Amino acid sequence: MAFRPPRSTPRRVPPRFLFLAILILVPICLIGVFFHGRKVTYFLRPLWDTPPPPFERLPHYYAENVSMDHLCQLHGWSLRSEPRQVFDGIIFNNEIDLLELRWRELNPYISKFVILESNATFTGIPKPLVFTSNLDRFKFAEGRIVNGVLPVPSSRLKSLKDPFDLEAEHRRAMNGLLRRAGISTGDVLIMSDTDEIPSPHTIKLLQWCDGVPPVLHLELKHYMYSFEFPVDYSSWRATAHNYNSGTHYRHSRQSDFILSDAGWHCSFCFRYVHEIAFKMTAYSHADRVRRREFLNPERIQKLICRGDDLFDMLPEEYSFQELIKKMGPIPKSASAVHLPASLIENADKFRFLLPGGCVRESP
Ligand SMILES: *[C@@H]1O[C@H](CO)[C@@H](O)[C@H](O)[C@H]1NC(C)=O
Ligand SMILES: *[C@@H]1O[C@H](CO)[C@@H](O)[C@H](O)[C@H]1NC(C)=O
Repeated sequence: MAFRPPRSTPRRVPPRFLFLAILILVPICLIGVFFHGRKVTYFLRPLWDTPPPPFERLPHYYAENVSMDHLCQLHGWSLRSEPRQVFDGIIFNNEIDLLELRWRELNPYISKFVILESNATFTGIPKPLVFTSNLDRFKFAEGRIVNGVLPVPSSRLKSLKDPFDLEAEHRRAMNGLLRRAGISTGDVLIMSDTDEIPSPHTIKLLQWCDGVPPVLHLELKHYMYSFEFPVDYSSWRATAHNYNSGTHYRHSRQSDFILSDAGWHCSFCFRYVHEIAFKMTAYSHADRVRRREFLNPERIQKLICRGDDLFDMLPEEYSFQELIKKMGPIPKSASAVHLPASLIENADKFRFLLPGGCVRESP
């Protein structure tokens, strides 16, 4: 064979060129890491972070008009002769529209709506008492609302070191408020954020069946900005408790059991752009607002219509496969099926939560 591939090409790169390439590439990498450090760290999450221990997923059975007796039996539980009382416990921030949606949705099943709000956020930013000043929107629940206010002295805000301190204080105040609301052993207690809404049939299952694990996480379908942008089923922090005197209000991992497909979690689902901006600065993700322009109303409006990330971050995933699958904007959904009934019934009022409603009004 006469033909021989040229063997020596790789060796022929002149050292001067290599030096030049390094001279150019190294600063580019450094600049990249400097400006996109978080993105690089997030992209490499599968290498440095481990996922939380897995849950045991309980299958969840439901169809319209199937008897409670049959539904309890399918879960391996038994029907009670009368329903348990249900208490809905919320530490409220500023999600006033979702609160109305939530309470309208759960209204027929809840004995007491227990709500705590403060004039400062966990991170020590003063806030108005949004719930107290909107009480007239909740006439439909009159007589069943137990509203507590936790005042935080302005002097404390400056010395506040750890947001965890204020959060713990909120949770202690919540425990007291629940007792004041008359909760007792054997009642169902929902612990969740305002935007984590259990579905009515989930509540009915918990109040009508015996044999439910005493502490049960609720797996919620996660949405961003509105029900037009379904993300995944990653939401797990909401819990349902069979209350006893040792029950303490929390919003973290509390058991290994999770009930599948138990409701909705709508993040940043606000009517007004300024509410989104407040949430971005005032809550636990405040450190992610790395540039002033992140709060620009036109920028926020553009991003929420595209389903893009407000903080210019990558998804929090623990495998490269999931991470790459979820990169880029959230695909739009045109379905408004299997959403809260209170949303469909009040579609005009809550247009911004429905497909096609991404353009926010001005207050
Ligand atoms: C629901 O069940 C009731 C009684 O079992 C029955 O009369 C009714 O027709 C059912 N409705 C639907 C929509 O299936
Ligand atoms: C919260 O309310 C209390 C009581 O009205 C008040 O003394 C305190 O200064 C307020 N805190 C903030 C951060 O506005």
